[in-house]
Amino acid sequence: MIWMKGYFIALEGIDGCGKTTHTKLLAQWLSSQGFSVVCTDEPTNGPIGMVIKQILKGRLRVPVEVEVYLFAADRAWHLAHVILPALEQGKVVITERYVASSIAYQIARGADPRIVKRANRFALKPDLAIFIDVPPELAASRVRRDRTPDEFERNIELQRRVRRGYLAQVRDGILLRVDGVGSREKIQREIRTLTAGVLGISERRITC
Ligand code: TYD
Repeated sequence: MIWMKGYFIALEGIDGCGKTTHTKLLAQWLSSQGFSVVCTDEPTNGPIGMVIKQILKGRLRVPVEVEVYLFAADRAWHLAHVILPALEQGKVVITERYVASSIAYQIARGADPRIVKRANRFALKPDLAIFIDVPPELAASRVRRDRTPDEFERNIELQRRVRRGYLAQVRDGILLRVDGVGSREKIQREIRTLTAGVLGISERRITC
């Protein structure tokens, strides 16, 4: 088989940080630049993702270690059924959430960092992983405005710990931080600039 390399981008952040909006805007722009784009997210709608969604709704309780393996197994499903096939076709894959979410959330929820890292060793590394950094109070007010918060979203202390977990990954060079406070255009421009660098798009083509 001929390996046509696509590009793999992950957008990360606490609940209510604006990932979905920025994924859509980034995808629109990349399409206008001639790329074929697939937008996807975790937890998935696959068989394990559906179990995870029961946990998020508070309908199923499991120890945090089980949570770690469920998210990792859902990721394996995601890679096999969505991400790798698209990359093999040379597409740009943008996922809302990936390994950095497990490192930030499950460690914040009490999991042993070594277990989280070991469970995710199999996962293909993204070409670019961006953390949209928004203060937990602001993000929580957006979540309350848009929907009924789930188990994780209701817990502001958890969101604060998750943010710290993301910032630690920025320090480790795993994530690139974008300041998520300010206009949507400004934030999107920063995301496009980072993406342009990785995909080899001229800076002159960045419009918002
Ligand atoms: P979210 O992006 O909020 O999905 P939706 O927009 O469909 O509500 O993700 C749901 C929750 O799952 C979010 O609170 C973060 C959590 N999560 C983890 O705890 N670990 C993980 O590895 C992933 C991918 C998500």
